[in-house]
Amino acid sequence: MKLQAVLFDLDGVITDTAKYHFTAWKQMAERIGIEIDSEFNESLKGIERMQSLERILIHGQQEHKYTQEEKERLAQQKNDEYVALLASLTPEDTYPGIKELLQQLRDNGIPAVIASASKNAPLILDALQLRDYFHAIVDPSGIPGKPQPDIFLKAAEQAGADPSCCIGVEDSQAGIEAIRAAGMYAVGIGEENILGPFGADIVYASTRELSLQKLLAAANLE
Ligand code: BG6
Ligand code: MG
Repeated sequence: MKLQAVLFDLDGVITDTAKYHFTAWKQMAERIGIEIDSEFNESLKGIERMQSLERILIHGQQEHKYTQEEKERLAQQKNDEYVALLASLTPEDTYPGIKELLQQLRDNGIPAVIASASKNAPLILDALQLRDYFHAIVDPSGIPGKPQPDIFLKAAEQAGADPSCCIGVEDSQAGIEAIRAAGMYAVGIGEENILGPFGADIVYASTRELSLQKLLAAANLE
């Protein structure tokens, strides 16, 4: 079977914005007396903004403390801090190997699509000057978030691709689960012991290791 599309998560796959999400959530959580560490942060990766806040409040046993309006204000504060951190982003912040892979996909006429939960995806892709490499950016509003398969299914649909002929690339546990639930080949970026148990078909320690040739061989596609 032929590879029909490659569907990319954004934060932690295209660039290191996962660390900025963590910094901004940590600061917000500290202000309300909740500690979060990097292990807990793994359970936030890939998760939509308000859902992430809910998880943090549950973690700090404060899930009943705030009104909806107050929660929206907390999430807004986090996003303001996060967006401020993004201000320094330049094309040099693209993870190694990503631009080369995107070029290989383009040269071979294989669409690349962004399947991210982030509402900041267009802003980030513009800062990295990568927007033109993507056939589409899935709008995550109003569709069930990861680990549900919907974002990846929508990405495949936008590329006109059959899910079984797609490869998804993810750094999060929720994202790996979503790719698998969508019936696609799941490539993890990170650690085998973190992503393996969630169903990653293969895990690379770095995006540096990605190439079209390797992906085709791993996924047994042409
Ligand atoms: C995901 C990140 O890509 O996007 C999560 O892994 C983040 O950490 C989510 O919460 C939503 O992003 P944003 O930019 O819309 O708050
Ligand atoms: Mg991610």
